[in-house]
Amino acid sequence: MSLRIFFEMARDKHQLFVVAGIGITPFIAMIHEAIAHQEQFELHYCVDNIDDYPFKRELSAYAANIHLYISAQRLDLAQLLNTHQRGSHVYSCGSPAFVQLVRDNASHWSSKNVHFENFSPVEHVDDSAFSTIITHSGAKVEINVTAKQSVLDAIRKQGLTLDSACETGTCGRCKVKYSGDVDHRDTILSARERKTYMTPCVSRCKSGVLNIQLD
Ligand code: FES
Repeated sequence: MSLRIFFEMARDKHQLFVVAGIGITPFIAMIHEAIAHQEQFELHYCVDNIDDYPFKRELSAYAANIHLYISAQRLDLAQLLNTHQRGSHVYSCGSPAFVQLVRDNASHWSSKNVHFENFSPVEHVDDSAFSTIITHSGAKVEINVTAKQSVLDAIRKQGLTLDSACETGTCGRCKVKYSGDVDHRDTILSARERKTYMTPCVSRCKSGVLNIQLD
């Protein structure tokens, strides 16, 4: 599996990553890149739930480099960006408001050392409801996915468990086998993978009934 990197990384002895929520997605690959170049990194990561946040499992290997905050209010950006070594590069991703806060607090940094991306999932206005047949442990259950629901949400509403991480179609964690006419909205699966798999966190049924195999 490969993850899309949104940032061009500058080579630096020490990389500073400042992230909120699902803005973490590109940083998984960037952490690997920093390690591959033998660069130090520290990740300041604001999450909604300290016990269950995106990429918790992947990040557990780097616990010594990670600072977790329950909500962005707990992260003292002024202090972080004042005390951090000058000349370093800071990378930030999250909601537009969060990224703006990071930029405001890094206003005394050289602009070429401040890298940011707003996380803004693509909005679809043309979603409609459809039926999905889930096959799970040999049983079949038909569920209705409403216009305002993802397939993943509808599956979970049935009490079924399905692993996920980004829930924006960028990590591939939730991929499931399917048959049917799918509108693939992820940015991770290859054309070949899409023949067999779909990402229920974002992808939907275009027409007819969607069949999903959970086992
Ligand atoms: S949870 Fe990441 S692609 Fe669905």
